[in-house]
Amino acid sequence: MSHQALYRKYRSKTFDELIGQQHVVNTLKNQILSNNIAHAYLFCGIRGTGKTSTAKILARAVNCTDNTDGNPCNQCEACKSILDETNMDVIEMDAASNNGVEDIRELRDKVRFMPVKSKYKVYIIDEVHMLSKGAFNALLKTLEEPPAHLIFILATTEPQKIPATILSRCQRFDLRRITIDDIVKNMRNICDEMSVEADDKALKLIAANADGAMRDALSILDRCMTFNSDRIKYEDVNELLGIVSFDTIIEVCGHIINKNIKNSMILINDILNQGKDLQFFIEEIITYFRNLLILKTTGLTENLLRVSEDNAENLKKHVDLLNIDEIVSVIGRLSDTLLECKRSINPRILFEARIISLMESTQIDVSAFEKRIEYLENAMKNGVSVKEIPKSAAPSRQEAASKQEFTPKQDKKTVKADRPSENTPAVAGDDEAEKRIRENWNDFLKLVRIENVALLAIVRESNLAYVKQNVVFFEFDSKFTFHYTAANQEKNKSKIKEILTGFLNADYDVSFALKSDKDEDKSAKSMDDIYEEMKNSFGDDKVILK
Ligand SMILES: Nc1ncnc2c1ncn2[C@@H]1O[C@H](COP(=O)(O)OP(=O)(O)O)[C@@H](O)[C@H]1O
Ligand SMILES: [Mg+2]
Ligand SMILES: [Zn+2]
Repeated sequence: MSHQALYRKYRSKTFDELIGQQHVVNTLKNQILSNNIAHAYLFCGIRGTGKTSTAKILARAVNCTDNTDGNPCNQCEACKSILDETNMDVIEMDAASNNGVEDIRELRDKVRFMPVKSKYKVYIIDEVHMLSKGAFNALLKTLEEPPAHLIFILATTEPQKIPATILSRCQRFDLRRITIDDIVKNMRNICDEMSVEADDKALKLIAANADGAMRDALSILDRCMTFNSDRIKYEDVNELLGIVSFDTIIEVCGHIINKNIKNSMILINDILNQGKDLQFFIEEIITYFRNLLILKTTGLTENLLRVSEDNAENLKKHVDLLNIDEIVSVIGRLSDTLLECKRSINPRILFEARIISLMESTQIDVSAFEKRIEYLENAMKNGVSVKEIPKSAAPSRQEAASKQEFTPKQDKKTVKADRPSENTPAVAGDDEAEKRIRENWNDFLKLVRIENVALLAIVRESNLAYVKQNVVFFEFDSKFTFHYTAANQEKNKSKIKEILTGFLNADYDVSFALKSDKDEDKSAKSMDDIYEEMKNSFGDDKVILK
């Protein structure tokens, strides 16, 4: 029997079937009903949220001859021919493989002709950010004077890579991450339809691991069905994903927070003896503390990673036991540990040692440091040289040493005159700016830290990509979407810009992007690697034999 991947089999065929994108769906349906159709659309959003599906639905809706409520009827000649891909007026192009000027020129020559059978000629260009510069220019020419019969539908995961000239000519829609609840509901419907039983807890775990992408959830579900065809069980999902169950993660973290060395070592020993992946385990613990940080700073549970509603309640139990700086510091130290473990010949021993030292270190009290920093800042503003600052204005060295224990290693150097002074030389151009940031990355982080510890937690996860035309481009790994979103919040962004401008002593703008999966560090076994493995075993878009 041939097996069609679930996420292909269950592709939404009408706007009403799309989940979690009401804001997009309502506008599009209204446009169709009022015959107020744009010439170019751009759908943005992370993978698996419905960009391609929406594009395909829209292509049918504009051409449907029996359209009563804005949805395509999927029955008329036009709808049917587009569904079975025999309609020559709807052309799908994947910019990842047709990204050259020639491809777009060819397209430009073709768009002048009237549609053969349909009302509109529709070009769907997927992954449009992959187009080359020349191709974008060629596309722009068409977008500048679009013939009345032509509609472009562009889709991308990386809108920040699209030239402003193109963006300004498109109607842009941002598709949202799909909520865990919505993902669970959809999977439940699919299971019912296929007469597969599934534990609620199991579906929740899958949804929590899909990171807002319906496609990822369905891929995991698909694999679970193959793994055990009569019932989807919580333990099987855990097993399949190779992850330590969330309850266990909570338990381990509870022991760490309570500094219960004995119990944490017993539990960690058990987990690792079961053959769980160490790096993945550390990442899960880091994610746990990252979630605590988010809960602590925002009080909101919506942005938590890999956590379902029930589990969010459990997190709340720990959130009051630590302050922000402690959480930031734990994340920093565990991230360092993760890196060290990747290089170590005996990562397990290293990990155990690091966890013990994390619990042994005394709690930090940064207030004394903040006092000293404030004093230094004032002193510098008033032109006092740093040498003259009395020790009494700050914690004693001993005090400082013990209080810094919980802080990330690279920050252990004494806080000295980190603030750029008036006489920090201005950088002479993009290249020099890039060089200064790259070579003095830790100093830059220190500045951020002085401004705001929570901001440090965001910025330290980013990497400098490049500097171009007075804009500093930073990138986040795709797993750091929360940090990416936080960095793009106006308040944070303008603060970072301000710090950067001081650091470079020249006016620079900042831009934050999310790295696409393929650029990712393959040495870490992340969720994405697991999806990749799934794709490899199932075939991303192929039908495979069972
Ligand atoms: N909003 C959604 N509602 C329902 N199913 C979705 C949604 N988004 C994605 N899916 C599922 O994931 C599959 C792939 O979605 P697709 O539209 O290709 O996502 P994208 O183009 O954003 O990566 C669909 O066939 C469907 O099974
Ligand atoms: Mg797509
Ligand atoms: Zn129709």
